[in-house]
Amino acid sequence: MIRVLFVCLGNICRSPMAEAVFQHLVNEAGLSDQIVVDSAGTGGWHIGERAHSGTLRELAKHNIPYDGRARQLARADFENFDYILTMDYDNLETVQSRQPKDTQPVIKPFLEYANGVVDKEVPDPYYTGGFDYVYKLIENASHGLLKAIREEHGL
Ligand code: 4NP
Repeated sequence: MIRVLFVCLGNICRSPMAEAVFQHLVNEAGLSDQIVVDSAGTGGWHIGERAHSGTLRELAKHNIPYDGRARQLARADFENFDYILTMDYDNLETVQSRQPKDTQPVIKPFLEYANGVVDKEVPDPYYTGGFDYVYKLIENASHGLLKAIREEHGL
């Protein structure tokens, strides 16, 4: 089983969208019994909440379901996931700083898997909106990530 965790700050805007879009691709590829997908936030302000209405609206536009609740990144995540993919460099630094020494997930900026975009970070839509642009970046990187995982694991 290959386990993928998306991480942002609040786990209500970007990482839930990434989780939903990537899960949708995994399902379409018939790989849902081989790839597990989840998301978490570095912060704990929104624990237990549904995703932001902007994220849910954008997902609904693309007929992608999502019913997850926000949770905070936990120590066990470093043991339980093979890939931890962060939305921006703040998230990356936080995740790296919390990594227990005896764990070795791949920890990378999610947009390293995107193709043909100049962005290195997924902009935070919480204050300024732009959920449609966030979706475009996430969709692009999700295709690249699935391709990379399939190649790395021979799927
Ligand atoms: P996210 O967006 O990290 O994409 O879920 C945010 C959500 C909440 C907050 C900041 C960013 N906040 O400060 O509460």
